[in-house]
Amino acid sequence: MSEEHVLEVEKLKKHFPLKKGFLSSFTREEITVKAVDGVSFVVKKGEILGLAGESGSGKTTTGRLLLRLVEPTEGSVFFNGMDFSRFSDSEAKYLRGKTEPNGIDITKLNDSEMKPLRRDMQIIFQDPFESLDPRMTIKEIIAEPLRVQKVAKNEDELEERVKAIMRDVEVVPPEEFMHRYPHELSGGQRQRVAVARAFVLDPKFVVADEPVSMLDVSIRAEILNLMVDLVKKRGASVVFITHDLAVTKHVCDRVIIMYLGKMMEMASSTNLIDLPLHPYTKALIAAVPVPDPSYRRTEVISGEIPSPVNPPPGCRFNTRCPYAHDRCIREEPPLVEVEKDHFVACHLYS
Ligand SMILES: Nc1ncnc2c1ncn2[C@@H]1O[C@H](COP(=O)(O)OP(=O)(O)OP(=O)(O)O)[C@@H](O)[C@H]1O
Ligand code: SF4
Ligand SMILES: [Mg+2]
Repeated sequence: MSEEHVLEVEKLKKHFPLKKGFLSSFTREEITVKAVDGVSFVVKKGEILGLAGESGSGKTTTGRLLLRLVEPTEGSVFFNGMDFSRFSDSEAKYLRGKTEPNGIDITKLNDSEMKPLRRDMQIIFQDPFESLDPRMTIKEIIAEPLRVQKVAKNEDELEERVKAIMRDVEVVPPEEFMHRYPHELSGGQRQRVAVARAFVLDPKFVVADEPVSMLDVSIRAEILNLMVDLVKKRGASVVFITHDLAVTKHVCDRVIIMYLGKMMEMASSTNLIDLPLHPYTKALIAAVPVPDPSYRRTEVISGEIPSPVNPPPGCRFNTRCPYAHDRCIREEPPLVEVEKDHFVACHLYS
């Protein structure tokens, strides 16, 4: 593991078994949804790494696998962001014993072994209406991770930490909002509270799963800017999941494009948006709405995304790709580095 990586992901897969139904009664083989089907990448320290792709491409499942919120079918997730100074002596000794040269493989830990690591690994969900408990006050919502991890020495310290992070996310003055309930806040304020809760423990790694897509378009940019500022200020690393490719150029350092559980392209966000190579990425970019009415789209993505239960053989994009040829149906293209730090899985480049 390079010291520069907070996470190293190797050949990660998640196949969800389908409930026994009509189809499975004809076969002995287990029928599965190939939500994530062999992805390998790193998250560098301090970077915001985007995960983009159409609905159903496996973004959320990947994000949850990185935090061990779902069990992987195969593969490893090596985490190298532990702050041992925050562990008790026994926790530190135990976790050091489990740490391999390339980090600690969180896929091999059980729930109680994961608990101390949760200080350094957090998530922001898409829906600020569902993710905040309506019966808890804002103070209790933000304080909950501090209580679970027993990091504040007393009530005063706990309240100070809650107030400080509320100031950082600009839910101010804290005294005015602390004792309110989520329903008394706007959608934007709620998502600020969700961001505060995710960052109150000063985590090293955060997954933000479409954190602004449920919010009014007019306030998305300010919440994103606030999140980016907080991430950079605190030196965290983030996997930022989004449908919105336009936003990745502004928010992300690098971006991975996923399709049917596979990685299609990975590059710096400027290269990916300005000089995309993969036909799928090009089609996604062409489908981004542009404000200029005189602009004509040259390529729009056509056809339905196939079922992840039975993905197309060879290249998974072959049923929708304007450049598909024989080889694309026979052979799966590997992800290769075509230019420096620019990876593509397509036979046009291999
Ligand atoms: N618990 C589950 N059981 C069965 N199938 C699942 C489960 N969770 C996700 N899936 C399936 O796995 C595939 C990938 O889902 P996932 O939610 O990861 O995609 P996504 O890229 O986040 O999509 P969206 O943009 O709509 O949020 C989908 O086909 C989905 O239906
Ligand atoms: S491998 Fe073939 S089908 Fe897949 S994206 Fe490239 S050209 Fe299209
Ligand atoms: Mg999702």
